[in-house]
Amino acid sequence: MRNIIILASGSGSNAENIIRYFAGREGVSVSHVLTNRSDAYVLERAKRLGVSTKVFDRTAFYDNNEVLYFLRSCQPDLIVLAGFLWLVPAALVEAFPQRIINIHPALLPAYGGKGMYGAKVHEAVVANGDGETGITIHYVNTRYDEGAVIFQARCPVDPGDDADLVAQKVHALEYEHFPRVIEEVLQQQGRP
Ligand code: GAR
Repeated sequence: MRNIIILASGSGSNAENIIRYFAGREGVSVSHVLTNRSDAYVLERAKRLGVSTKVFDRTAFYDNNEVLYFLRSCQPDLIVLAGFLWLVPAALVEAFPQRIINIHPALLPAYGGKGMYGAKVHEAVVANGDGETGITIHYVNTRYDEGAVIFQARCPVDPGDDADLVAQKVHALEYEHFPRVIEEVLQQQGRP
């Protein structure tokens, strides 16, 4: 059984979509959802879907390696950041080479970096009058949104679109592509 662990900080609609996708498939499962926020709605979603959850704080993530040791004990094939907003520490990146991926709601390298997440990205896209935006799925390194790109998809930004509408279009792309790209990355890894 291939094992995915999801890290998320917020609503978790992507996490739910990924869990549902793999629940309907043989050989892959999401074993845990981890979050840095005890009030994140992703916790409700995971519990409803029967997936184990764990909440961690900054000390566990950055200082005493508690999260790293926990992840190691789970032996994940892939760690998926789905709306996870903390920078991943070097020790974690090094412990899971090519095994941590992130989704970003824009066409990187545009609209990436610290402070560029969620609605802030869509507001900037609208403010700049861009004619298109999209999603980027990429490997995670120790810098925000700079790891090697695995996949991008685009959608139009029409005149009159506000940030909420752009967010809906981008979320639709995420739901369509993220689980499938995760599946492809697992297939390309081969069996350990
Ligand atoms: C998603 O749009 C994801 O691309 C974005 O947060 C949203 C989470 O939505 N991630 C980032 O901005 C990371 N920099 P969700 O909680 O409903 O899945």
